[in-house]
Amino acid sequence: MNDSASILFVGDVVGGIGRRTLLGLLASLRERHAPDFVVVNAENAAGGLGITSKIAQELFAAGVDVITLGNHTYRRREVYAYLDQEDRILRPANFLPSQPGHGWCVVTRRGIRLGVLSLSGNLFMNASRPVFAEAETAVGALADRVDHLLVDMHAEATSEKVGLGWHLDGRVTAVVGTHTHVPTADARVLPGGTAYITDVGMTGPRGGVIGVKRERAIESMLTQMPVKFETSTEDPWLNAVLIRASEPMKATAIDQLLVPATGIG
Ligand SMILES: [Fe+2]
Ligand SMILES: [Fe+2]
Repeated sequence: MNDSASILFVGDVVGGIGRRTLLGLLASLRERHAPDFVVVNAENAAGGLGITSKIAQELFAAGVDVITLGNHTYRRREVYAYLDQEDRILRPANFLPSQPGHGWCVVTRRGIRLGVLSLSGNLFMNASRPVFAEAETAVGALADRVDHLLVDMHAEATSEKVGLGWHLDGRVTAVVGTHTHVPTADARVLPGGTAYITDVGMTGPRGGVIGVKRERAIESMLTQMPVKFETSTEDPWLNAVLIRASEPMKATAIDQLLVPATGIG
């Protein structure tokens, strides 16, 4: 079997504008980069907060293989049952076992088995169980069942993401950070062969404040009073990374894709 694989990982899709940006660009990205797998963080896909089963199904129908989530997983009550039913939608594995959903899955394309693991940081986040311990458990459980393993580390603190990248270096194909909605400039393959980036960024409106209409966000910061947030639609971009791998669990390259969605808005 040929162990080479490529994975397109798309950063947090924000609102309808983010969905249109992703769906509008996906065909050309496929044509250009021919990824074997497409994994999308969609924790903000429904109006900027959470996801619905209908939106998840739309993303799967468009060819997305796996959806990852994060701290906004439970914003839409409607999706709870779907999180338990659908294998390929993931919430962080280090949430409580009693919370709806699960944290990893395995998908197969061209005979290549890709494991995807969703984790949440503990610093400034509401994940109830320690992320490093959960990473050990999950990587151990998946190691013999997959050819490649992609970890979405959904976290606020850069230190936790960098730490997890080094900790898993050589044992997983990639550790990609999400949640801050701002792409970082540190994409690289670590010495052990794990592709790493601290934050992939967001697929949504760059004209806002991490997705929110900037007038509203600034008013909230200025007045320190409650303000109703609304998703911006200004200047949508797709932020993603393309990971290439040759032998099992070893990446050869990680390339950042920062693409303006001209004509969408
Ligand atoms: Fe997000
Ligand atoms: Fe988040």
